[in-house]
Amino acid sequence: MARIFSGIQPSGELHIGNYLGAVKNWVQLQATYPGAIYCVVDYHAITGSYDPAVLRARRWGMAKSLLAAGIDPAQAVLFMQSDVPEHTELSWIFTTITPLGDLERQTQFKDKSSKMESIPAGLLMYPVLQSADILLYRADSIPVGEDQIQHLELARDTARKFNAKFGVEYFPEPKPLLTPTRRIMGLDGNAKMSKSLGNTIGLLETDEEIWQKLRPAMTDPQRVRKSDPGRPEVCNIYQLHKAFNDEATVSNVAQQCSTAGWGCMDCKKVLLEGMVQELTPIRRRSAELDAEPQRVLDALADGGRAARGIAQQTIAEVRDIMGL
Ligand code: ADP
Ligand code: NA
Repeated sequence: MARIFSGIQPSGELHIGNYLGAVKNWVQLQATYPGAIYCVVDYHAITGSYDPAVLRARRWGMAKSLLAAGIDPAQAVLFMQSDVPEHTELSWIFTTITPLGDLERQTQFKDKSSKMESIPAGLLMYPVLQSADILLYRADSIPVGEDQIQHLELARDTARKFNAKFGVEYFPEPKPLLTPTRRIMGLDGNAKMSKSLGNTIGLLETDEEIWQKLRPAMTDPQRVRKSDPGRPEVCNIYQLHKAFNDEATVSNVAQQCSTAGWGCMDCKKVLLEGMVQELTPIRRRSAELDAEPQRVLDALADGGRAARGIAQQTIAEVRDIMGL
């Protein structure tokens, strides 16, 4: 049986791009792959400058949002990375078999470090920790979006190098399990919905807040008047219909758009209905967890124990292989 691992940074509120591109898939996979492991990667969130109080709130908030979105601690292991310090031990071990040049070549490192006066070594080591996150659980199937495939390469290299150096077949080479939902476009028509572009809808926003964002959102730029037929295939709103509405509604939307039967406002109202239907139970669970914050902490404590059990066994075996 394949073992699933995936992680997400505790970086503020989830938006519907994160939800559709990652978290919703995690929720679906937990039923098929019992014991799927999902991690809030807080060790990854400290490589830049940050406010500890903000980080503390965001760690809890991300765990709450994942539970609200449907991660079920009875099926999956949900935990906080720093509750399992073995991540850092395996990471150190991996630094000893990772060529410095491979790390310096990483695009993300080059982008981020080029703007810095003093570069924390942790920024360079970030992908090593990522490899440790995955291999600590000897996970072989990693649900990721297209944008993350490259990051898995280093984990695969690391598994191969470790096995070759010590003459063992210990770590599996983790393979990407591509998420079915491709990149969600931004409300402004940008190719990617992203926090840093300010073109998102938050997973926990109210109906009214969602509508205030949908109303002015970009649609097919060639559709100027209501009488112009639209092109659903280029429209971000149509993409969201496909994510939130059933097939019959989606095909009606395509028909009404391409024949100019509906204007964009009509179309957006139908989208709002679909979003409200899917997001209402998530917001309700989120409010319940806000009222009983201990439930989130309890889930993390259970998940942390389960994850640590696996992690400690891996570390014991790795130490044995390495002569430590
Ligand atoms: P952001 O770009 O908003 O900062 P992250 O880079 O933290 O989001 O992404 C967290 C997860 O959500 C990743 O698995 C990523 O693949 C997924 N994700 C982020 N934005 C999108 C999007 N627009 N469409 C699909 N998936 C996305
Ligand atoms: Na990002």
